[in-house]
Amino acid sequence: MTNSAVVLADTAAYAAAVEEASRAAAAYYATGESTLDDDAYDRLVRGIAAYEQEHPEEMLDASPTGKVAGGAATGDVPHTVPMLSLDNVFSAEQFVTWTASLERRIGRPVTAWSVEPKLDGLAVAARYRAGRLEQLITRGDGTAGEDVSHAIGTVVGLPEQLAEPVTIEMRGEILMTTEQFEQANAVRTEHGGAPFANPRNGAAGTLRAKDRGYTVEMTFFAYGALPLPDSGELTDRLAGLPHSEVLSYVARLGVHTAADTDVAPRTVATVEEVQSRVEEIAALRASLPFGIDGIVIKADLAADQREAGSGTRAPRWAIAYKLPAVEKVTRLLAVEWNVGRTGIIAPRAVLEPVEIDGSTVGYATLHNPADITRRDLRLGDRVMVYKAGDIIPRIEAPVAHLRTGDEKPIDFPEACPQCGSEIDTSEQRWRCVRGRDCRLVASISYAAGRDQLDIEGLGATRVVQLVDAGLVADFADLFTLDREQLLGLERMGETSTDNLLAAIATARTQPLSRVFCALGVRGTGRSMSRRIARYFADMDRIRAADAEELQRVDGIGKEKAAGVVAELVELAPLIEKLVAAGVNMTEPGATPPPEPGEESTEAAAVGGDGEGDGLPLEGMTVVVTGAMTGALEKLSRNEMNELIERAGGKSSSSVSKRTSLLVAGEKAGSKRTKAEDLGVRIAAPDEFAELVAVFLPSEV
Ligand code: IVH
Repeated sequence: MTNSAVVLADTAAYAAAVEEASRAAAAYYATGESTLDDDAYDRLVRGIAAYEQEHPEEMLDASPTGKVAGGAATGDVPHTVPMLSLDNVFSAEQFVTWTASLERRIGRPVTAWSVEPKLDGLAVAARYRAGRLEQLITRGDGTAGEDVSHAIGTVVGLPEQLAEPVTIEMRGEILMTTEQFEQANAVRTEHGGAPFANPRNGAAGTLRAKDRGYTVEMTFFAYGALPLPDSGELTDRLAGLPHSEVLSYVARLGVHTAADTDVAPRTVATVEEVQSRVEEIAALRASLPFGIDGIVIKADLAADQREAGSGTRAPRWAIAYKLPAVEKVTRLLAVEWNVGRTGIIAPRAVLEPVEIDGSTVGYATLHNPADITRRDLRLGDRVMVYKAGDIIPRIEAPVAHLRTGDEKPIDFPEACPQCGSEIDTSEQRWRCVRGRDCRLVASISYAAGRDQLDIEGLGATRVVQLVDAGLVADFADLFTLDREQLLGLERMGETSTDNLLAAIATARTQPLSRVFCALGVRGTGRSMSRRIARYFADMDRIRAADAEELQRVDGIGKEKAAGVVAELVELAPLIEKLVAAGVNMTEPGATPPPEPGEESTEAAAVGGDGEGDGLPLEGMTVVVTGAMTGALEKLSRNEMNELIERAGGKSSSSVSKRTSLLVAGEKAGSKRTKAEDLGVRIAAPDEFAELVAVFLPSEV
């Protein structure tokens, strides 16, 4: 939560927190890279402030709470007027309380508020003399900053010459837009440098760097201006202007403000209007081409500001309405490669789950392989993850200085992860050479797999051949292949052809559970397909079922039911083709549920079978572990589960109090120990085979 604080229990915890905050702030101000993300830093500082309120006598000099910039590296250029920080509020209620205290202080209502974005960059002062940009100074500790005039010429929005020859100091924020940040990291990694973790770090690092062999661009946004000692008559003019008019004047002089963005500063009259603009800006945040971390609300009139005055740290006439942090540091655990409908192979980062802005983020987009290289990402890296609003979370960059040396390179796939074909790497976005057909190869291979139609001799290479030759466009076409067509394929001799045709003929008689599974309906793997098939007993009934009826199958919720119904409608042509090809559409041993209106029986509701309670595993939950032997040796786990269910039982993969029987084969490990501990009955494979003998598949 953004507004929670770290709780500090005692003096030692307080001292440690002050030290950690100082270290993070010092690192941040020195190099732009902090060891803490914003949210963590803010929570720490709030914890420190809370402790100090309770124990003011213990306050340490190094505490970040008393400083304008929290432990900044001080420069040697004094500010004419201190560069202050802002106090924060985190909710509408806190904001209303703040406005009330401001109005009490000045003794009248504030009638004009300026509402503007809180730009997430670094505060700088830009000094213009007679219209020429002479000096650029960081905020430093608020009273003196560092001279960073070497950056003049690389900052968009800070012209070297103003439209009028005035002497004035512009104050504002230097940041990198998303585009500038991408560009900066590309250039940096090309030059062998470590990428910046986020745009703000990028701006901080870039602003300080002198004599680099390359330049990267940044952007300035002015949020204020003040006269310099030799400003002449401008001094009085500026003093009387409302803040909004100062900003318009600055823009007229040619300096960039947020006026040309979607979150342009706006002057409104009431607290309600402020709140609605705050909400608008918050909603626009994710789509902005630059980072904001809140909204700044200022009393617009010069008289209000003057009478409110300033504290040592912050003005009393302005407040930062902070938005939740949208960046967190977490670890990159793995990269998954997913193949889309058009054959595009897209990497996706698997992250150590982290909570950002109220939701848990476990994945982030990585765009393309070049993106991984450009960001120099490695497995195990601590990465800065950004997520705002509804946008897909993205990794900004690794936090390079947190590397331990144990990070591993990311492996790029050598073959299409979906169908095994070659990958076309000529474009930034990699693509399976089969394009859209990639999905086809994968879905036919899946249908032919051992746990579905079990068509031996039909590996991915064969499927590729069949698809390329135009002989199959879906797996129903397999059932109408003839001998001549198969013989015409390369490396297809008579024997392999006959074997394949025989395997296809057998596949035609597979139980409905496997045929249904072969359809690849989302969320219906092997065991769910068996439950559906046993519940409905035939394909027509499955297809006739509505979402409500599907939910009567164990494990199908509302959402999955709706998805299955919708997918079955889409699959209608394929199913009809299968029916026409003579593929079995019934589940042996299963009894259909009663027709609507008929009395529902217990057996039907749980997907029971018509053979009454004479089934050997009736009402039992059975778990299989270890290697099967004897009559069961050749059965896959899926086939074992099918066998259990045919014999009236329920298969499960984990042992618990509810397990009735554990079939323990050779090298059974922890499941056996657990069953022993729980007193669950254990049977050896042979014993079990005897128990379910009549249900064994005929070929074993
Ligand atoms: S007004 C005396 N306006 O936020 C008034 N500051 O957390 C102080 N900031 O130090 C600044 N956007 O660096 C102001 N629209 C804006 C701002 C803004 C970003 C920064 C600024 C300030 C910090 C306080």
